[in-house]
Amino acid sequence: MNGLQRRCLALPSNRLGLYLALRHWCTPGQRVLMSSVSADEILFLVLAAGLRPVIAPLSPRDGNIDVRAADLDGVDAVLTTNLYGLPDDVAALAGDRILIEDVAHAMETTVNGRRIGTFGHAGVFSLSKHAGAGSGGVLAVEDEADYRALERERDLLLKPGVLRKEIVSVLTSMARQAALRLDLVRPALKLARAFGMQEEREGYRIALRADELSLAMKTVPGLPPFDPWVRADLHGYRTRRGPLAQWYQRRRVARLPRERDRRVAGVDRLADLPVVAPAVRELRDQPLFRVPLLVTDRDAAIAALERDGVATGYLYDPPYDDYAPAFIEPSPAPEAARWWARHVLPVDPLYAHRALPVISSLRPAPPVTG
Ligand SMILES: Cc1ncc(COP(=O)(O)O)c(C=O)c1O
Repeated sequence: MNGLQRRCLALPSNRLGLYLALRHWCTPGQRVLMSSVSADEILFLVLAAGLRPVIAPLSPRDGNIDVRAADLDGVDAVLTTNLYGLPDDVAALAGDRILIEDVAHAMETTVNGRRIGTFGHAGVFSLSKHAGAGSGGVLAVEDEADYRALERERDLLLKPGVLRKEIVSVLTSMARQAALRLDLVRPALKLARAFGMQEEREGYRIALRADELSLAMKTVPGLPPFDPWVRADLHGYRTRRGPLAQWYQRRRVARLPRERDRRVAGVDRLADLPVVAPAVRELRDQPLFRVPLLVTDRDAAIAALERDGVATGYLYDPPYDDYAPAFIEPSPAPEAARWWARHVLPVDPLYAHRALPVISSLRPAPPVTG
């Protein structure tokens, strides 16, 4: 696979693309190696595809799959995370097995000059992260026949769009972007909470509802019974997008090259902090989505940042091993994942200057044990 020529399938979300890719390349019952530190919905769509989530040991350097500790020969497929934009070791993971790349966080990350998302059978991008387009996804594949088959499968799963909802979602995204630019994050968060615009959570994860999930498991493979879990934070994850949302997505994506230098400058600045995740120091030239710091009292730091008008998101704590033990094959060495999930503080490099007064004095996380 040279990855240079990819066909791009437009989607309402990254998560729908990951499901389509897993269904297209894997067969129900197959074992998929994956990280336990990723968004809730990722676990649920692997389950919906009828696959066995095999949890990989993670590297404390970058929070991604530790390829030296993982049993690559014992699995049929690998799903990468590229957490916060830090690249998975695709050179080691690509091989005879199926490789699906979750590029939600790594839209602009390159490895030896080649884009993450072009190494595997499929690269699945999200337009709500770097581009801040509210929603949207892109499934990039090499082969025309795969593209056509995935397009057909997508159309079977799409629900019809509703113009009113599309207008509200574009306006909400525009308001979020304006609040960020104008340093109005604190009042915006208060408003969002007052209007119940945030998904209910138990800590940082949605409620598992294990009994209901066990019932849904009887129907695999199939996505709709898993909607109550997979739709977390994006209820329209498989709703067809119309011209308005597509126009907005194009506009947001077109801004990315202009933001690139500012993003890299933020990464470079944060890479000097003693609390930065070690791998970031070698990625100073990469426009990462977030810069992960590893700190002692992460939740107190989040509260301090919020008082200064800096919101923190994309926390995946606890790891799947502890969140959904009955639904996974556990990691042989879960300590680094637990440590990473508990201590990571992801900082937006575009707004590093706003976070620096709080994060400059944070204490590093205690060493990982186990
Ligand atoms: C690592 C990761 N993968 C995938 C997704 C899903 O992206 P989307 O909201 O476009 O479906 C998210 C969303 O937060 C994510 O954090």
